[in-house]
Amino acid sequence: MNLSNISIVILAAGKGSRMKSNKAKVLHEISGKPMLYHIIKASKELSNDVSVVIAHQKEKVQESMQKYFDDITFVEQDTTNFPGTGGAMKNVTPKNEKVLVLNGDMPLISAESLQGFLHNDADIIMSIFDLENPNGYGRVVIDKNEVQYIVEQKDANQAELNVTTVNAGIYAFKKSVLNTYIPQLSNDNAQQEYYLTDVIAMAKKDALTIAPLLVDEEHFKGVNSKKDLAESEMIMQERIKTKWMEAGVIMQLPETIYIEDDVVFEGECRIENGCRITGNSQIINSEIKAHSVVEDSILKNSDVGPLAHIRPASMITDTHIGNFVEVKKSTLKGVKAGHLSYLGDSEIDEGTNIGAGTITCNYDGVKKYKTKIGKNVFVGSDSQLVAPITIADDVMIAAGTTVTSGEIESGNLVLSRTKIRLVKDFYYKFFGKIHKKI
Ligand code: UD1
Ligand code: MG
Repeated sequence: MNLSNISIVILAAGKGSRMKSNKAKVLHEISGKPMLYHIIKASKELSNDVSVVIAHQKEKVQESMQKYFDDITFVEQDTTNFPGTGGAMKNVTPKNEKVLVLNGDMPLISAESLQGFLHNDADIIMSIFDLENPNGYGRVVIDKNEVQYIVEQKDANQAELNVTTVNAGIYAFKKSVLNTYIPQLSNDNAQQEYYLTDVIAMAKKDALTIAPLLVDEEHFKGVNSKKDLAESEMIMQERIKTKWMEAGVIMQLPETIYIEDDVVFEGECRIENGCRITGNSQIINSEIKAHSVVEDSILKNSDVGPLAHIRPASMITDTHIGNFVEVKKSTLKGVKAGHLSYLGDSEIDEGTNIGAGTITCNYDGVKKYKTKIGKNVFVGSDSQLVAPITIADDVMIAAGTTVTSGEIESGNLVLSRTKIRLVKDFYYKFFGKIHKKI
């Protein structure tokens, strides 16, 4: 693929009012990444001249994308004087003769799905699909097997509304076509906007060649509402999970599992129903049991859950984590933490057993502190480890102990218990004899 044959323009300046959100539409996320990220990623596989048109919340959109990409051209649209997808094209200056224009609200496109636009020499190649319910899309009016024009839903008459062939919103133009027609667009329509789609009728009138390209909704679905966002998420999730199952990951009831775009699996992995794995997590030869959440963490040769929560920056190797255990920013190596614990900002070494109900008290209301636990430590149930604290190898902490000393040396038993007191027959005196039978 020659990346310098084609320029790509992504339209991302619109308000997205149908999303009913303060967030710019293109920044809404699909599988953990802004919609616009997915489109730019696919675009960069095809071109080294990618421009993004911005206006609404332009700083936020630009900053968000600069985190991921450093070679994108941002172009500002004058939305006051030239609103609409046609207005968005006014200030772009693509370098190449062929220009692919993508709507910024199509997170499902892939480089492969755009191939059809590259190998066709028509003046305009435009994407269409047939929908049972064309609601929201521009209708493509075809007559004598040729595209005549596109009419937006808000401008369409009844006959046009009945058309089920719609404009998917991706086009490849010869640069000369854009140079000729963009300056001629008018905003004489229901939305008083400059529609890029009007270029079609103008080009048709001048007998230019317009090639419709039938595309699938799986890749070209536009996101205009929160419902579209949820539907697109399902498609993207299916794609991500299919890829990993094909690579050998076992997923039980995969439709209930959520896995973000950057998650990586290696070796033999098994994921049970209801799990959520996010960020840059790496799961290597591990098992994640039902309804567990793993965020931005590494699991290696370990098993986690059911109902465990592994929060960001955790590194868990050769370890067993059981139910209701929360781990945050911790490194666990060869550890057993079977039940009901909070392990935050900690480092725990081989052979150590964390009893049920153990809490690392890592926060004093102002700052966070570290807990370090060495090898072969036995932490009894219901212990609180008040950080900062370092527990050397071979230490035993008795159940119910609150460890407040900053350092515990090897070989020690740590015990903090009040002496037990027995008050004979107190129960009967308090409740009366009747309770004896219960
Ligand atoms: C657009 C098409 C419609 C097509 C549909 C496919 C037009 C006029 N209509 O409608 O025919 O069926 O996409 O999904 O093009 N944008 C700007 N500047 C603006 C307005 C929009 O950059 O002033 C951007 C938006 O950020 C968005 C894209 O253009 O990413 C499409 O805008 P949107 O408002 O979603 O257009 P649709 O109504 O979906
Ligand atoms: Mg749209």
